Amino acid sequence: MMLRQPLRYLHRFVKVQRQSAKQVDLLTTRVKQDAEAREIICRAANTDSSSSEMSPLETSEQSQSSGRGRTFWTIVATMVPVVVGVLGYEQLKRSGTATVTASLPQYAIEDVMQHNNTETGIWVTYGTDVYDITEFVDSHPGGDKILLAAGHSIEPFWDLYTVHHKGEVKEILDSMKIGQITLVDRMRLANRTKHDPYEKEPARAPVFRVNSLKPFDGEPLPHSLIKNFVTPNSHFYIRNHLPVPEINIDTYKLEIKIASKPAIVLSMEELRSKFKKHTVMATLQCAGNRRAEMSEHKNVSGSISGVASISNATWGGARLRDVLLYAGYTEDDAEVKHIHFEGLDNDIAKEPYIVSIPIEKAANPLGDVLLVYEMNGKELPRDHGYPLRVIVPGVIGARSVKWLGRILADSDETLSFWQTKDYKSSPPTPHTGCFDFRDAPPIYESPVNSVVCEPEPGEVLQPVDGEISVRGYAFSGGGNSILRVDVSADGGKTWHSADLHAQEQTPYRTWTWTLWEIKVPVLENSDKVEIMCKAIDSFHNVQPDSISGIWNLRGFLNNTWHRVNVSTTSNDNQ
Ligand code: MTE
Repeated sequence: MMLRQPLRYLHRFVKVQRQSAKQVDLLTTRVKQDAEAREIICRAANTDSSSSEMSPLETSEQSQSSGRGRTFWTIVATMVPVVVGVLGYEQLKRSGTATVTASLPQYAIEDVMQHNNTETGIWVTYGTDVYDITEFVDSHPGGDKILLAAGHSIEPFWDLYTVHHKGEVKEILDSMKIGQITLVDRMRLANRTKHDPYEKEPARAPVFRVNSLKPFDGEPLPHSLIKNFVTPNSHFYIRNHLPVPEINIDTYKLEIKIASKPAIVLSMEELRSKFKKHTVMATLQCAGNRRAEMSEHKNVSGSISGVASISNATWGGARLRDVLLYAGYTEDDAEVKHIHFEGLDNDIAKEPYIVSIPIEKAANPLGDVLLVYEMNGKELPRDHGYPLRVIVPGVIGARSVKWLGRILADSDETLSFWQTKDYKSSPPTPHTGCFDFRDAPPIYESPVNSVVCEPEPGEVLQPVDGEISVRGYAFSGGGNSILRVDVSADGGKTWHSADLHAQEQTPYRTWTWTLWEIKVPVLENSDKVEIMCKAIDSFHNVQPDSISGIWNLRGFLNNTWHRVNVSTTSNDNQ
């Protein structure tokens, strides 16, 4: 009676095994299976069967000297695989990995591991399936980072870069499927516990539209974004590429190395005490802001940001220029052309987030590049780079490295992935898959942009005296100020200039956004209104009217006229 259930499981276990094309004649290889199964038990119990510690297998062998012992241990040895079969099969069932596709070849994990370079072919696993990605590697949007998974499971990488957890990405992977992991190896995998690299993320206010949870990419709702000229820390957009690192302030040190000179290190205490504190108000905007609109035009790769991956804060800290001079940089140092910033957030291969900026911006006394430990008068929050980050005003947010660990002054830009393969633009019609981002120049300053934040798309408005209220922001990179924001609610037949609210506009050093508002007339007899806005900056740059001419593979720098469609009820004065 008691044995009926395990026997039923054993029967199912054997049936599944039989389906496997490569695991031929399971019953005659039972002995081998038993040994493998016992090995699994050892591993599951964290006991290496080859170690000197006593394993169930050794215990059974030692007992074979006595006849009664032999009978007993023969029963045990027979039952071990039964129990393993039951437990393993149940676990596989729970994890949804118990299906064996008869037509697919079965590979041991060791087989997969041997396929880790272009000569052997590059194989990876996902779940219980095996894929040959050799041909795909060159067109992987994340570059050769995919090679880190060669011969292994790609799941830890997908858990780190969760943008992969999408139907279309899985479809691409499925097109490269060549087989499945053997059932025995699946049981080994099912016993492993998964580690979530994002388990120690900071708490966040529930105010964000979440573009990606892991890594976190969130932005406030448009109408709340423009409630304040200076964005409260809790509402400031967040863009992380990796898990937020945990940094111990007592042991934290910033390393600074100027070309071939010896490196120096500074504690936070030294940074605060040795260098004058400067404050700069600066708007930070992600290069991917407004990517959602670009992806509606044509698919782009990257997390789908709305219109609010931009915020404005007062930053406090030491001037980068002062710190570079302290570390040995001199203005006539011909060796130094770029400053690299290295974050303390690492990917699986321990490669940190690194980008660089040209020395012309980094050491410019009027460039206002700061090493920041305060945000709006408060300690820098963890999500924004605690304990120290760079702020590069007028330049896309990607160059303002958070959790700063190292600064390097060098003759070239950094060769990091983030500098050479990301944060670059492509022509609107690249030969897909052939565009080499290494040939494109990096993005630094962002172009003139403006956005309607109020009303939001789909709102129903009641015009007052034939007009509706519209509010938004405008921003231009490189220190340019905003001269004008034009708004239309009649399809561009008439444009009306908005009232601008800005800080003092220092020529070539306007690092902050401009908020604007206007009441625009809407057409009578029409209940659908498309509101459009466009800004002009102090270099008389204007926004392009449509996406087709500026569309790019990564969806960066969308600064087209912003359009918001709303409905109107009848005028309240009619
Ligand atoms: N610095 C590190 N170390 N790691 C990152 O992922 N993200 C960059 C930049 N600095 C990033 C980083 C990007 S893409 C942007 S847009 C800004 O940080 C966002 O800064 P915030 O999260 O404080 O708004």
